[in-house]
Amino acid sequence: MKYQTILTLVLILGNKVVGMETVILREDDVEELITMEEAMNAVEEAFRLYALGKASMPPKVYLNFSKGDLRAMPAHIMGYAGIKWVNSHPSNPDIGLPTVMALMILNSPETGFPLVVMDATFLTSLRTGAAGGVAAKYLARKDSRVFGFVGCGKQAYFQFDALRRIFDIDLVKACDLRREVAEAFGEYCRKAGVDAMVADAREACKCDVLVTTTPSRRPVVKASWINKGTHINAIGADAEGKQELEIEILLKGKVVVDDIEQATHGGEINVAISKGEMRREDIHATIGEVIAGIKPGRESDEEITIFDSTGLAIQDIAVGKVVFENARKENRGIKMQFFRI
Ligand SMILES: NC(=O)c1ccc[n+]([C@@H]2O[C@H](COP(=O)([O-])OP(=O)(O)OC[C@H]3O[C@@H](n4cnc5c(N)ncnc54)[C@H](O)[C@@H]3O)[C@@H](O)[C@H]2O)c1
Repeated sequence: MKYQTILTLVLILGNKVVGMETVILREDDVEELITMEEAMNAVEEAFRLYALGKASMPPKVYLNFSKGDLRAMPAHIMGYAGIKWVNSHPSNPDIGLPTVMALMILNSPETGFPLVVMDATFLTSLRTGAAGGVAAKYLARKDSRVFGFVGCGKQAYFQFDALRRIFDIDLVKACDLRREVAEAFGEYCRKAGVDAMVADAREACKCDVLVTTTPSRRPVVKASWINKGTHINAIGADAEGKQELEIEILLKGKVVVDDIEQATHGGEINVAISKGEMRREDIHATIGEVIAGIKPGRESDEEITIFDSTGLAIQDIAVGKVVFENARKENRGIKMQFFRI
């Protein structure tokens, strides 16, 4: 469908803005306006700036309902202020709606003007994949060749897309509760030129980089399955009570989080911390501190490293900025004057 495009009208009379429009971008626009490379660069820079204190990000706000929740995720970074408003309703597919739907508004920090309203559903997966890629770049062994995936749903695809831009992947081992889901993911990897096999969880863990993307609330990965030198992207646990790894893995590995507060309350480490088996001091660093050179990343080929990803608003705003600026260059989107200016 072609969009009606109206030239943005910004008339400045004296010092006064008399007409100004907000850009509206749908999921199709957003997908075409940003690449995984751009997302990875943006997310890496966002983590770095956050570690240097050059961003602000209040805690997420939750509204809980019987069938799901809504979360508000605001941040100010890289010259933009904004908020992602995202739901999670697991039974939505029964009535033909997606589980997760997200919208983002980016505003000018100078005036508060809403510059763009965009779909952020695709962006959420993109920035999560980008974060996994960036984390593995700093924490995995450079010669990593075999990649295990436990959970082969939506997030696994984005993790793979980011990781294959950094590593020469020889083999993907795909594990999912539903064999057909693992097979479809393996097929996707093969189409990207990477050999792939369906595996059980134990076999998938015999790898250089392990990616876990299940919504599990009980460990699906046992400590005895993890070899020395493995890097783990623990993506699935992003809310209280969720857990994919046996706690022993966290205790014997080097844990790097995206944000200490969020990870403590809802990341892979949340269960270990609430049970008193791990302390905040056991967290080695944030990924931003590693990127900024404040703390070391991997220090030996023997170490087990774990990236605990919860998903941050600064990641959303950073990729949203790329989308908005590319949209402006290409004059994409519907323009709307919301206010009588
Ligand atoms: N860290 C972040 O920033 C972030 C961002 C988005 C989503 N997530 C989380 O990632 C998880 C996955 O999201 P998704 O969109 O890929 O969901 P999805 O439903 O598309 O995929 C999850 C897959 O995991 C499989 N699975 C479940 N339990 C398993 C087990 N014990 N062993 C093997 N496979 C198992 C399911 O069969 C399914 O295919 C969710 O918990 C979601 O909340 C985290």
